[in-house]
Amino acid sequence: MARKYVIGGNWKSNGTQASVASLIEMLNGVTVDTESVEVVIAPPAIFLATAKANLKPEIQVSAQNVSLTGLGAYTGEIAAEHLVDLGVQWTLTGHSERRALYGETDFVVAEKTKRALDHGLNVILCVGESLDERKSDQTLNVITRQLKAVADLLVNDLSLWSRVVVAYEPVWAIGTGVVATPEQAQDAHKNLRAYVTSHINPEVASELRIIYGGSVNAKNSAELIALHDVDGFLVGGASLKPEFVDIIQSAQ
Ligand code: G3H
Repeated sequence: MARKYVIGGNWKSNGTQASVASLIEMLNGVTVDTESVEVVIAPPAIFLATAKANLKPEIQVSAQNVSLTGLGAYTGEIAAEHLVDLGVQWTLTGHSERRALYGETDFVVAEKTKRALDHGLNVILCVGESLDERKSDQTLNVITRQLKAVADLLVNDLSLWSRVVVAYEPVWAIGTGVVATPEQAQDAHKNLRAYVTSHINPEVASELRIIYGGSVNAKNSAELIALHDVDGFLVGGASLKPEFVDIIQSAQ
């Protein structure tokens, strides 16, 4: 069965009430063929309710992060329960900015992923190597280590993988304008899928959407999405611009 593309827009910690209103207007003007693509927008948490209330239903909403804990005395946290209550369908986990700037370990990312899945959310799980790791030939070790931490927690319920999308985001490509070459992207995605085949389950592997993130724009999206193991994108900077519409179009 063909895998449905996922095009994610991660707005990171950007936007004002005014700019968010225009982005929502722009997105509502896009024809989304939901048979072939899922469009998932991750605004900052403070705009989740606005996005959920105002985006058309063909466009799904994601949190950028989710708490390790539930409802209760956890000041400043947004729990999976809050997201579900708001009708938010997705969360990102393990974005490299959370790993690098907020100390999220593989285990924390895995626990957040499991907790989000257990509460019914879909998860875009981000993995990726740093430039040093790539230069020292550690790419596959790093991304499979990050994935294994999650696999270890899902081992008793493989059906949860149907709600996971893996985003391969090489850290050196994020926000740098240096996009992975088609060979680098296809190689990493193919290797990740092979890892899932041999270490998790072949059926999970063939159905798992593995999307690419890192300096995707309207100029490079068509070539990247044509790759066999690239099932869409997680777009940062370009998701705040009109060219995001062209990136969505490249998937349908
Ligand atoms: O989550 C998105 C990624 O960090 C990619 O960001 O498209 O600005 O390179 P970017």
